[in-house]
Amino acid sequence: RLIHLIVGARPNFMKMAPLYRELSLSSNRYEPQIIHTGQHYDEQMSKLFFNDLAMPEPSAYLNVGSGTQGKQTARIIERYEDLILAGDKPDLVIVAGDVNSTIACALVAKKLQIPVAHLEAGLRSYDEQMPEEINRVLTDRISDILLTPSLDANENLIKEGINPEKIHFVGNIMIDSLIRHQKKAELSDIFDKLTMSQDESYALVTLHRPSNVDECDGLKMLLTSLIEIGKHIKIIFPMHPRTKKNIQNFGLSNYVNSSKNIIFTEPLGYFDFLKLEMNAKLILTDSGGVQEESTYFRVPCLTLRENTERPITISEGTNQLVDLNVTSIVNKSLEITEGKVKQGKIPKHWDGKTAERVVMVLDKWFEERDKATDS
Ligand code: UD1
Ligand code: UDP
Repeated sequence: RLIHLIVGARPNFMKMAPLYRELSLSSNRYEPQIIHTGQHYDEQMSKLFFNDLAMPEPSAYLNVGSGTQGKQTARIIERYEDLILAGDKPDLVIVAGDVNSTIACALVAKKLQIPVAHLEAGLRSYDEQMPEEINRVLTDRISDILLTPSLDANENLIKEGINPEKIHFVGNIMIDSLIRHQKKAELSDIFDKLTMSQDESYALVTLHRPSNVDECDGLKMLLTSLIEIGKHIKIIFPMHPRTKKNIQNFGLSNYVNSSKNIIFTEPLGYFDFLKLEMNAKLILTDSGGVQEESTYFRVPCLTLRENTERPITISEGTNQLVDLNVTSIVNKSLEITEGKVKQGKIPKHWDGKTAERVVMVLDKWFEERDKATDS
């Protein structure tokens, strides 16, 4: 059976690589093809991960690039539909997470009567100001197979009236990638590249949510907080292209250059970034994936957002939300660097076996569908 695995933005690669591998090992039951929308296209936001995660070249590259929410989504819809209409119709399309490529390709498939599976279904921040929340809700609504990372996601879907037979708790597939590559990550020479010693304490930072970086005052407040924290501990900040562009456009480059204790870098490769996560004293982030990885590594994480669609990283893991003002961010950070750390445990099914469970779900789903069509 032909299966399209949709990737587009950075967090999609870690989620699809394990599934591609597992489907390829399925003794010819499945023929997985990677379709890359081109939502992310810089070498450090895309190509690098194909190398690190040992994924083959995509079967198709839609080259959509950046744009407004509407333009980008529309371009993906148009080009993905053209691709399917011009080639072999897949038996299943699998989308992951909550990016524009997720909803756009799910919508195309569904309207062409192709079943859709959503990997990382059911997460909710209940914050409709986030483009991702809209993508999640709509993708889940039209998906035929909903693969959830944690049981809170099952509950959210059931509350929305989704048929429980469609919902499968498979675990966190991003953690499959983390576990598979952890040893290689430990060998990364990132500390040499940053000319620092591995023993040195540091905080790791990532920021890219529009709510944090698309408005000058908010971004200024976050940079001011980092400069304050940087007086107490070294900071490493691999910068997302959205954030880098906004710092330039808002004329905030002086904030970037003002502290010697903050190292700003380009977005990093997967192994280098994992090594920085696992050795950090503290992580400050607004990334979904980074909240989860810090919980897995049991590294304290402060999420710079008012809410999270990943509450299990708070109830079970090492994550905490922090109020968005300089005093709260600095005080919470210093509490952690001074030793007041939250203990956490690794949530159920974040064990490296999620891709295996997904393939079992798919086997059963196809078997039942074939039986229904035969009878
Ligand atoms: C997207 C996802 C977000 C995800 C993030 C992961 C949506 C709505 N947002 O946000 O959920 O957490 O990816 O990183 O799908 N840019 C480049 N080079 C690139 C990619 C982007 O320079 O390779 C710049 C462009 O100026 C672009 C901006 O970054 O306009 C934002 O890119 P976009 O894909 O629209 O959203 P992200 O902020 O990356
Ligand atoms: N990541 C990376 N290099 C970086 C920053 C993040 O490899 O410089 C990885 C990180 O380990 C995680 C994923 O990118 O696996 C998270 O992606 P991102 O934060 O862009 O998206 P989100 O998870 O917020 O949607």
